[in-house]
Amino acid sequence: MALQNINPTTTNSWKKLTAHFEKIKTEHLKELFKNDRHRASNFTIGFDDFTLDYSKNRISQETIDLLVELANEINLQDAIQKSFSGDQINKTEKRAVLHTALRSTSSTPIIVNGINIKPEIENTLQQIEHITDAVVSGKWKGYTGKEITDVVNIGIGGSDLGPQMVVEALQFYKNRLTTHFVSNIDGDHVSEVIKKIDPETTLFVIVSKTFTTQETLTNANTIKEWFLKSAAENDISKHFVAVSTNLEAITEFGIDKKNVFTMWNWVGGRFSLWSAVGLSISLSVGFQNFKALLEGASEMDTHFKETEFNQNIPVILALISVWYNNFFGCETEAILPYSQYLHKLTPYLQQAIMESNGKNVDRNGEEVTYQTGTIVWGSTGTNMQHAFMQLVHQGTKLIPSDFIGFKESLYGLTEHHKKLMANYYAQMEALAFGKTKEEVHLDLKFNNKKEEIATLLPFKVFQGNRPSNAITIKKLNPNSLGKLIAMYEHKLFVQGVVWNIYSFDQFGVELGKELTNKHLKKQG
Ligand code: F6P
Repeated sequence: MALQNINPTTTNSWKKLTAHFEKIKTEHLKELFKNDRHRASNFTIGFDDFTLDYSKNRISQETIDLLVELANEINLQDAIQKSFSGDQINKTEKRAVLHTALRSTSSTPIIVNGINIKPEIENTLQQIEHITDAVVSGKWKGYTGKEITDVVNIGIGGSDLGPQMVVEALQFYKNRLTTHFVSNIDGDHVSEVIKKIDPETTLFVIVSKTFTTQETLTNANTIKEWFLKSAAENDISKHFVAVSTNLEAITEFGIDKKNVFTMWNWVGGRFSLWSAVGLSISLSVGFQNFKALLEGASEMDTHFKETEFNQNIPVILALISVWYNNFFGCETEAILPYSQYLHKLTPYLQQAIMESNGKNVDRNGEEVTYQTGTIVWGSTGTNMQHAFMQLVHQGTKLIPSDFIGFKESLYGLTEHHKKLMANYYAQMEALAFGKTKEEVHLDLKFNNKKEEIATLLPFKVFQGNRPSNAITIKKLNPNSLGKLIAMYEHKLFVQGVVWNIYSFDQFGVELGKELTNKHLKKQG
């Protein structure tokens, strides 16, 4: 069954939220904290090794109650239920959306087109485990009998960003293999990677759900040609594997049948790292760590499916984001992980969120009269404090921000970690509470800088009242990373449901592809 079709702006709760916004829009976080001594704990949700503190948002309990009312009015529970049970919620492409099945630990069958998909998932996982063990242990040999030392993932979009982000994020857990990623059609990208590898010891993983993507096929062919300069056609089976739904095209490319990993149409590209698209992850950190990533995501799935909305981390994050997007008129959101390991998280989430919810047509096929998908951007702390945070603190735009921090570091170095986390909390405090004219005045006076009072005072004022979420996690490991990614997947899903759009197609990327082909034909 398809998703329901409810224009959120016609609901009673939306009307109530509009009236409520007029009352609360000028309230300062300082006041909100002053009036409620328990605000921080009242607006904190704990789940396993995750804590979401959303108290530094421009909300009151009434805001949350009304947003939850909105979620109920647009029947979010029904949408969640349909998504997990394999209904064709991707209506425009007539597909189920079941990346959650890839990591499900329950034994309940999941039926797609009359077939239980669980055994196929299990088979593919076994195949991933098998090749991972063979390559990592050195049993898998290249065409001259040497062990594999390097893995090159050739793919783009969902077939690149997810695996790359996770491989970077889990660097601490990496084994002896070196992993490279080739994505751009820019020939200099593939050339730079080729410079670093040896055909005798490299395994190429071609990842393309459709196996028609111009970038991936061009790069794969270039690499194949380069490989065949030193190796023979029948050596391809020792060095090339492929992940796709398009088995015919893979065979045509010359990949050995035993090196083919199946993908399914019920997995969207940008949600596919949990499938064999994540093969380079498993190769890089070992199958057990890949499994732990899946398990973490599955735990977040259960939290999302079974927790009431006012205690549900992805639901609360989504509703607060709707609040800023549709009532405050914020256009962008920042994602600010305080971990260098997560430096690829934002580009990954940009595809997940913006390809999903960047839609201007609702489920009736009519143009929406309200804002949908937010622009997401960001970078890692503390580097970004010395780059764009000036604008977030003192600029003219309201930018709700997600701060992501870890209680423990991986290598120890507790002095560093203490400083890192002090920055994490300080930034959110500065954004929320700012520094008044009076405080600046006092400060300058106290520091014997009286002459600066006349010249610098207004420039040193921080208005504050700038919102943030603190997502604090015990430690970065495969399990918690799985949870974090799944948290954002569910957040964007909830937003698409509220906005009454179809989050799982991506027709917006097609016109550019069509015109590129026309230009190529013209060039001859
Ligand atoms: O062009 C957009 C897109 O279709 C993404 O949704 C997808 O992740 C990417 O291209 C790559 O597609 P494929 O895996 O089929 O090569």
